[in-house]
Amino acid sequence: MSDHRHLLSIRDLSGGDIERLLTLTDSFVEVSRRRMPKVPALQGRTVTWLFYEDSTRTRLSFEQAAKRLSADTLSFSVSTSSVNKGESVRDTVETIEAMGVDAIVVRHRSSGVPHQIAQWVSGSVINAGDGWHEHPTQALLDCYTIREHLGGLDGRHIALVGDVNHSRVARSDVWAFTKLGATVTLVAPPTLLPPSTDGWPVRVSHDLDAVLPDVDAVYLLRMQRERMDEALLPSLREYTNRFGLTRRRVELMDDKAIVMHPGPMNRGVEIAADVADLPRSVVVDQVRNGVAVRMAVLFDLLGSGRDLDTEGTR
Ligand code: CP
Repeated sequence: MSDHRHLLSIRDLSGGDIERLLTLTDSFVEVSRRRMPKVPALQGRTVTWLFYEDSTRTRLSFEQAAKRLSADTLSFSVSTSSVNKGESVRDTVETIEAMGVDAIVVRHRSSGVPHQIAQWVSGSVINAGDGWHEHPTQALLDCYTIREHLGGLDGRHIALVGDVNHSRVARSDVWAFTKLGATVTLVAPPTLLPPSTDGWPVRVSHDLDAVLPDVDAVYLLRMQRERMDEALLPSLREYTNRFGLTRRRVELMDDKAIVMHPGPMNRGVEIAADVADLPRSVVVDQVRNGVAVRMAVLFDLLGSGRDLDTEGTR
């Protein structure tokens, strides 16, 4: 990725790019375990965020990552900004850039906004989730977490279960997982799948019980009720009966298979409350790894010419 200025989409990365970022993440996991988890790698650089949609994990972990790299951070809240007076996205980013920022982390409800912003600014743009399109750093932290627990993705079988159609996480994970050699099966009712999966490197199933014995990881997608503008399901209870990961269904899985979720979880809908807390659930590891992965992404985009061994990790 060092020849890219931005991180907008997993589809822009090769399997080698992803592997290299995961290896870089190893260094920052080591930094994060120190008593003083801070390095001077991005001293003199400034990072800001432009979140037009709510976030807990992504926003906070980018902030933590930037601070651990000693970057300056420019705090910006859309909800208390002049966006409320009608300021356009373009005027907002040009205003922010005029103050001297090196990277803007963007989340927006509309697909393609980070790509558009990248046309307007000279610094780096990182997509922190755009509409139904992509969430590339989520996919990187998911790959890192699978590698941590299963040793790698090559030859692994991963089921992505639930609301695929509205999920930017699914669209990034499908490409990241398969670029690293995994097989992906989408498991969902037809109404929660995209109208066409032509060109997607996936299998499709509507029968979770049949798929579970064969997977190394089951990745539950959040039921995105805020993005559903029509009745796509008879009821949430019916959905949970057929596609929710319950204790009974966990018994169908291999002993070593893991359970993942990007958060925030709807406990009792796509995942039973007690399943979310099982030892095989790696949801908290996903969040923890998100900080180191985002340190790797920021360093890769902004640390050009800096030596990781002398400035990054010592
Ligand atoms: N997984 C994820 O993107 O969570 P947030 O919406 O809390 O950032």
